[in-house]
Amino acid sequence: MTQKPRLVILLSGNGSIFEAIVDAIEAERLNAEILMVISDNPNAYGLTRARLHKLNTQSINAKEYPDKNAFQSALKEALLGLNPDFIVLSGFMRILAPDIIRAFPKRIVNIHPSLLPKYPGLHTHERVLAAGDKKHGTTVHFVDEGLDTGPIIAQQELTVLAKDTVQNLEQRVKALEKRLYPEVLQQLADLQST
Ligand code: GAR
Repeated sequence: MTQKPRLVILLSGNGSIFEAIVDAIEAERLNAEILMVISDNPNAYGLTRARLHKLNTQSINAKEYPDKNAFQSALKEALLGLNPDFIVLSGFMRILAPDIIRAFPKRIVNIHPSLLPKYPGLHTHERVLAAGDKKHGTTVHFVDEGLDTGPIIAQQELTVLAKDTVQNLEQRVKALEKRLYPEVLQQLADLQST
């Protein structure tokens, strides 16, 4: 494929990592196109960031559906309609239904704030501090049907300092994520074009 990869972003909240992806595209460090930014949360600040960058946004408000299946069906329909090369989870705080994952094999990527397989799930920074770990970091991986279990593409680590708190560890990990995610997406783009 010679065209640049077409991405759909899924996010639930603040969207600072997503914005680093946009910045990389705008700075031509990442050769990709964002077709749509979708959120399960209509109030996600990430949607505002997307609009400020003149990107298409769609809110699929999980709370407006009678159950999880109905929400996941609406999401699947939207994704199939867009037919992206990659679905990029960026702070998307829901588990995708297995049939969505099967519809996009090796085309859904996630960034998770821990050195997987350590600390899948929530509250990773708290858990690292409670365990007294010396190393922490972030992982980009393909999404499979487990919770943060898919094949690892790349990781970046940092040394936990005695003075680290949950808040500043979160910020330090996010700083790594803002560099790592655009780089990995460019690697996937390069692989796709060969
Ligand atoms: C990031 O740290 C990302 O790794 C994490 O949410 C944060 C999103 O930050 N993702 C997960 O925990 C997914 N399990 P942001 O909203 O500022 O971009």
